[in-house]
Amino acid sequence: MFGKILGFWRREESGDQHGAEAKRLLKKLDRSRLPKHIAIIMDGNGRWAQRRGFPRAYGHRAGVESLRDIVKACSELQIPILTVYAFSTENWKRPQEEVDILMDLLVEYLNKEIDELCRSGVRINPIGRLGDLPRQAQDALKMATDCSRNNKGLILNLALNYGGRTEIVDAVRSIAADVEKGLLRPGEIDDKVISERLYTAGQPDPDLLIRPAGDFRISNFLLWQLAYTEFWLTPVMWPDFRRVHLLRAIDDFQRRERRFGGLIKK
Ligand code: FPP
Repeated sequence: MFGKILGFWRREESGDQHGAEAKRLLKKLDRSRLPKHIAIIMDGNGRWAQRRGFPRAYGHRAGVESLRDIVKACSELQIPILTVYAFSTENWKRPQEEVDILMDLLVEYLNKEIDELCRSGVRINPIGRLGDLPRQAQDALKMATDCSRNNKGLILNLALNYGGRTEIVDAVRSIAADVEKGLLRPGEIDDKVISERLYTAGQPDPDLLIRPAGDFRISNFLLWQLAYTEFWLTPVMWPDFRRVHLLRAIDDFQRRERRFGGLIKK
């Protein structure tokens, strides 16, 4: 029943008209200048559902379909890293029922998708204070991380119980502990030392941040890493977000002039 409802909305809203545009964009993309790291704030699930008279949970479930499509698209484009904001440190303030649904969806997603993800070479890399997640979620994450550990394709950073400030607090604590032990001198702390203590240690900062659903906020996401990231905002709600929107974002990204605070030599 639910699948039928979703199917109905899918045909209504995405349909075939996106196919031609996606094909055109795909042809146009400069493969040598693809973003190496894309970050996405998957926003708008609740509003998407409520506008259709459904409970918010329907929106989250529909959001999983978008995630599936975008992971596949990034994988096919050979984007090295995708980071998705799945549950923030602030999301615990939501009604317990909604928190439970989000955790159940995470477990269901990992259990159902792990084989397909592994076939595509995707490596699952959860980031956040994972030890505070419910046991079942932790177990599913461990299973998915272990199974996909040696995969060489897309790295999928799942930001869970993630907060940008919390991440910086954790990094500062770890640096302070090393200073206390005499392993590091305060004068040695620089951008690189801090980056290497973040959950994304070893990864390049995102080149492109995508935020669907019309809000113009960072919402405590990757505060350190987004310093020079290009933003692409769209009113499209996350459950309606498909690869054509991703391709539009990348196409727009490729037309940006990135100066990183400097000047472009003409
Ligand atoms: C924000 O939309 C979205 C979330 C808090 C959760 C995102 C979760 C998913 C896309 C599905 C589950 C994730 C995984 C990894 C399986 P919102 O509900 O705040 O939207 P609103 O602003 O319209 O209320």
